[in-house]
Amino acid sequence: MVAAMPTIPTPTSGAPSSEPDADTIYVLAAHPHWRESRANRRLRDAALRLPGVRVNDLYASYPDYAIDVAAEQQRLAAAELLVLMHPIQWYSMPSLQKLWMDEVLGYGWAYGPGGHALRGKSLWLVASTGGAQDSYHPAGYNRYFFDAFLPPYEQTAALCGMRFLPPLLLHDARRAPESELAAHVEVFAQRLGSYPDWPELAELEDCPECMVPAGDRPQAQGAR
Ligand SMILES: Cc1cc2nc3c(=O)[nH]c(=O)nc-3n(C[C@H](O)[C@H](O)[C@H](O)COP(=O)(O)O)c2cc1C
Repeated sequence: MVAAMPTIPTPTSGAPSSEPDADTIYVLAAHPHWRESRANRRLRDAALRLPGVRVNDLYASYPDYAIDVAAEQQRLAAAELLVLMHPIQWYSMPSLQKLWMDEVLGYGWAYGPGGHALRGKSLWLVASTGGAQDSYHPAGYNRYFFDAFLPPYEQTAALCGMRFLPPLLLHDARRAPESELAAHVEVFAQRLGSYPDWPELAELEDCPECMVPAGDRPQAQGAR
């Protein structure tokens, strides 16, 4: 079970925002309709203002869904922390974020034999939901605690040898009071700015080694 972490006119270029020499944090900001966004837009804009943070607006970068796998792998390899930032859609990630995972986290590169490119790095989910926190309850219309939807993220990190950091979540994102949204954005920016000096990191166990038998995944998707 994963404990959730307690709970800023804007560049819109699709290209990764800043290209400083030592980006240690790579933020994948995936929202299919930024103009309709209340929460993620504010988070994206906060990240764009921070030094050492590379922000990739996925839907602007790849409107045709043609992901530049080599470039993405290069950015990932250079980073220490990968941030997946998006609205929860159908209890999961937006489709382009999923395609990014399918193509960039290649067998033989991110996992599987010889796939050690991400080992020792960290993955941080920063997500918003339309449902209020009490809807994510056995008695609510979402029927499960929100933690029940996290294993695919957590196990993806594990398979790649990455630490899965406690997610930062904003529930009821479209109706949360402005003060709550502002505090959420502030926590997000403060966390990005202070990484890796997060008190809870010392308590996180190292990721267990996950061996994927060669026959389980197609070799054709190996290291590119
Ligand atoms: C196609 C689609 C699917 C969605 N699925 C979910 C869902 O499974 N659970 C949920 O709580 N909210 C769901 N939502 C609501 C979004 O998560 C919510 O509108 C978003 O987090 C608000 O953030 P934003 O202001 O940045 O858009 C969905 C929205 C869309 C458009």
